[in-house]
Amino acid sequence: MEFSVKSPANIAFVKYWGQRDTALVLPFNDSFSMNLSNCFTEIHCTITDNPGDQHLEIKEYEASGYHPASERELAVVKRFYDTAKTFLGCSSDFGFRLRSSNTFPKKAGIASSASFFSALTVAFTKAFDVQLDSKQLSVLARLSGSGSACRSIPDGFVWWHKGDTSDSSYAVSVAPPDYWDLHDIVVIVNTGEKKTNSQDGHPGAVTSPYYASRQQTLPVLMEEMKTAFEARDFTKFGTLVEQEAINFHSIMMTQIPPLFYWSDKTVRIFKQIQALRQGGVEAYVTIDAGENLHVIVEGKTLVAVERLLQNNPDVHSVIYNSPAVGARII
Ligand code: PMV
Repeated sequence: MEFSVKSPANIAFVKYWGQRDTALVLPFNDSFSMNLSNCFTEIHCTITDNPGDQHLEIKEYEASGYHPASERELAVVKRFYDTAKTFLGCSSDFGFRLRSSNTFPKKAGIASSASFFSALTVAFTKAFDVQLDSKQLSVLARLSGSGSACRSIPDGFVWWHKGDTSDSSYAVSVAPPDYWDLHDIVVIVNTGEKKTNSQDGHPGAVTSPYYASRQQTLPVLMEEMKTAFEARDFTKFGTLVEQEAINFHSIMMTQIPPLFYWSDKTVRIFKQIQALRQGGVEAYVTIDAGENLHVIVEGKTLVAVERLLQNNPDVHSVIYNSPAVGARII
């Protein structure tokens, strides 16, 4: 059997940081995101009768060919195969040959593990020949170890309910992609891989002296953001998104050991966007666990931000995204 799956990365307007159950990947708080149309993973899958076939090849951003995955990367995929088999209640095995390509740099604050593991969730479920609804797919994607993968399963704008148990911690679509003409301009200032990935960063979250206050204030912020989203009030929405990103990074910067993802380039672009805003152009910044930036705008503002980023010495490349559908077989 041969087929391909495609799944988007997603950008969280309210981030999940810290896990109350590491094995089950249960977060402390709800989170809210948008799927990205031009940052995605495609996996071409060849399913064989030989369970000994367990191969993964990867094509990186801007690379021309595929290379074999590292042992560590393949081990994570094999572990998720076992998780999926148990979750789906299957007893027989299959072999797989996977070729995965990304339209964006991995491990750089653009949710490459979310797009990869949500794609793999759909691939393994099909290969095991089990039908799951979006909720169950989302639970399985979360169990991959990349919690935010659960938000790349449903379409458009997505809310991850933290839930009380594994079964009740999943993401749902709260609006389709065409609900709002929002864009995420991904500004790549460095294509290199970050030194600490999220898996290694989550455990430290609770060591920040500000973590308790983050958890206390997030429900209020999320309520306000939901109201702004429902009213399509971009000024309010963008202000909250940027405020939340700074809050999220202040937790990471003050946890033990601290995680400092911003570089001088990140700060310069951030300030330029703020200056643009003072000049009347409504654009807001959010930053995931990485050095690169996500600039959130409405369609009418795209050109003004594009102009700022063109010939900008700090910018390596730019990826323009609109809201997108979730993981699927193509
Ligand atoms: O998906 P994980 O478990 O690797 O965690 C990453 C979470 C962040 O990307 C840092 C924030 C978020 O909610 O997207």
